Amino acid sequence: MVLGFPANCLRALCPCPLPISAHALGAKLMEQTGRPVVPIEATSKSAERTIAFHVSPLRSLAERLTFLSSIRSPDSQTENLDETYRHTITVHGREYQKYSIDNEISFQPVDRDEANRLELQNKVFNKVFDNRLIFPRNCEPQRVLDCGHGAGSWAFQVAENFPECKVIGVDISPHMIPDDDDYDVMENLEFQVDDLNRPFTFPPEDFDLVNSRMMAAGIDGSRWTSYIQDIKRVLKPGGWVQLVEIYFNVQSDNGSLTEKHALRQWSTKLMSSVEGVKDLRVGTRLRDLLLAAGLKEVESTMIPLPLCEWASEPRMRDIGKDNRKITRRLLTAVALYPLTQRLHMPHDEFQQLIDQAQKEAESPSLKTYFPLYVAIGRKPS
Ligand SMILES: C[S@@+](CC[C@H](N)C(=O)[O-])C[C@H]1O[C@@H](n2cnc3c(N)ncnc32)[C@H](O)[C@@H]1O
Repeated sequence: MVLGFPANCLRALCPCPLPISAHALGAKLMEQTGRPVVPIEATSKSAERTIAFHVSPLRSLAERLTFLSSIRSPDSQTENLDETYRHTITVHGREYQKYSIDNEISFQPVDRDEANRLELQNKVFNKVFDNRLIFPRNCEPQRVLDCGHGAGSWAFQVAENFPECKVIGVDISPHMIPDDDDYDVMENLEFQVDDLNRPFTFPPEDFDLVNSRMMAAGIDGSRWTSYIQDIKRVLKPGGWVQLVEIYFNVQSDNGSLTEKHALRQWSTKLMSSVEGVKDLRVGTRLRDLLLAAGLKEVESTMIPLPLCEWASEPRMRDIGKDNRKITRRLLTAVALYPLTQRLHMPHDEFQQLIDQAQKEAESPSLKTYFPLYVAIGRKPS
C-alpha cells in the first residue's frame, strides 16, 4: 500500500535546497528509516505537489502513518506532517481536520463516528445502486481514481472486485481510513493526501474511471467547472466519470413539509452557512457540468432517498429503514460546525433544532427524502 503526501510537507523532511526531486526525498526517507522507499507518480508534473511513496515492509496503515509523521522537520520553522495534515481540533465533541477548517476545505468531522457513518452510508448506496459500484455498463477499468475517498469503502470494494485494477483514492484527510489489515494487504489500492480544489497533479489520460461521490461540501463552489475539466483531463479517451451527490434540501411530495419544519430550517441554514464558499445545490447541475465540459454519452437521474421507512414499495421501504439510522447522525455531522461556528448558533439551540429535525425525519406521514443525483459521462475517444 502507498501513502501520498503533498510535496511541500515532504520537503520539510529534508534539509536540501528546494526544489527537491521525488527520488531525493525517497532516498532521504530510506536513509532515515532503513526501509525500502519507492517513489511513485514521481513525474515532474506530480512532483510539483503530490508525491506518493511505497514504504515497505510495514505491518499496518497505522504504523505507517505514525512512522511517517514521527519524522521531525530539520527546519524548526517548518511544520511536519503531523502539524499540517494530521492535526485535529475538537468542536462540541467532534473532531475536525485543522488544515481543512483553516483553509475552508471541509467542515465535516473526520472522527471514528463519521467514518462509521460513511461506511453505513456506503451500505445504503450499495442497496440503492443494486451493488453496482461502476455505473457505465461498458467500463472495464485498469486504473480508477476515487476523489474524496472518506472511509475508503467504495475504493476498497472496487479494488476487491477488480483485482487487476489499480485504485487510487485521494482525500484531504487521512484520518478515516480504517486501521484494518484487509486494506493493508491490497496491493492494488493506494491512498494519497491532496486538496482536490487545486489542479490535479496526475498526468493526462491516466484513468479509465473517475468517481466523485458526496463532494459538494468539499469542492469550492467556484471550482466545479475546472474540477470536471480536471477529471476529464486525467481520463483516458473513452474513459468514464461518475458523480453522485445528495442535495441536502429535504423534500416531500405530499405537501406536508413547510418552511416551519425543523428539517426545512436545517436545510436553509446549512445552505446559507456555506454560501459563497460551497455549492450544496451542485447535484442539480451535474448533467449540465458534464455537458459543458464536452463529455459524451451523458446520463443523469434523481433518486429520492427516503429519510425513513415510509415507502410502500418493499425495496424503497428497506432502504428508508437503513437510511433512518444514518439520517439521525447525518443531521448532526453535516451541520454541527457550519451552524455553530459559521452561523454562530448557540449549541443548545442547535441541539433543539437537531432533536426536532430527527423527529420529523422519522415521521412516516411527512414522507421526506433527500434528492440523490447521479450522473455519468464519457470522454470522447
Ligand atoms: C462526505 S465524505 C464522502 C466520502 C466518500 N466519497 C463516500 O462517498 O463515502 C467527503 C470526503 O471528501 C473529502 N474532501 C472534501 N473536500 C476535499 C478536497 N477539497 N480535497 C480532497 N478531499 C476532500 C473529505 O475529507 C471527506 O473524506
